[in-house]
Amino acid sequence: MPLMLVVLGFVAFSVPPYASLDPALSRVPPPEGFPLYYAFLAAHVMFSSVALLTCGLQVWPWFRERHPVAHRRVGRVYIFGGAIPGGLAGFVVGAATPYGDGARVSNMLLATLWILFTVTGFRMVRQHRYADHRRWMVRSFALTASIITNRLWGLVMFLIFLPEFETTYGGDMQEVIKASAGVTTWLGWTVPLLIAEWWLVERGRARRRADAGRRSGPADPPMDAAAAMTSGKVPTGDAQAP
Ligand code: HEM
Repeated sequence: MPLMLVVLGFVAFSVPPYASLDPALSRVPPPEGFPLYYAFLAAHVMFSSVALLTCGLQVWPWFRERHPVAHRRVGRVYIFGGAIPGGLAGFVVGAATPYGDGARVSNMLLATLWILFTVTGFRMVRQHRYADHRRWMVRSFALTASIITNRLWGLVMFLIFLPEFETTYGGDMQEVIKASAGVTTWLGWTVPLLIAEWWLVERGRARRRADAGRRSGPADPPMDAAAAMTSGKVPTGDAQAP
């Protein structure tokens, strides 16, 4: 699965400087006056890597359909061992970011939405609202995976801002990095979230068309809750609208 390979490559590249617990290896310069910054950053990277790895498994249709029990267990690891602690630590390092106010606001908002979407997805499945569960988890996964597109935007933005190194930024490379990081942090998560919303709307439309077509044909066999959870369809007896 290509997504899983990208995720494994990303984690293999990202984790070593933080798993070493050596602040000198950090790729982010620590802000002044916050000695615990590296500890929070290392915790953020570890928990977020759990989220990214488990999210890669959860979005794999074969895994969800063939292993519904494992899907539930891995889901709990994603929520309680990945997204929530990774988001809380991300909020702290986001508030202390050395990349300026634009990046600060973006990171704090992203961390808040990441936790909110994930917790809402969990609450929905506890209430057996499987279609809503899938919708909130798609949003949560879009934010998790946005870390990968974030790095691509980072490269593009750096190349766009670099020609102004001598002029606008007076030969100060830190200012070039700060300016490009400010734009990158916003594009990194807003674009995947918009794509996820568009996909959810389109999928809802396609499903309603298919349902309308089926209503004029023979009736569906009843569906149990486990099958509904993996397929995303509304199970028989669930009062929720698709
Ligand atoms: C979705 C919510 C996330 C938020 C709010 C967030 C926030 C942050 C912040 C604030 C930093 C410090 C750099 C800066 O100030 O801009 C950072 C660094 C980092 N984050 Fe996240 N992050 C998130 C998701 C992830 C995920 C899913 C991963 C996956 C492993 C990840 C991996 C990293 C890594 C490796 C660094 C260190 C920078 C580097 O070595 O390149 N983050 N993150």
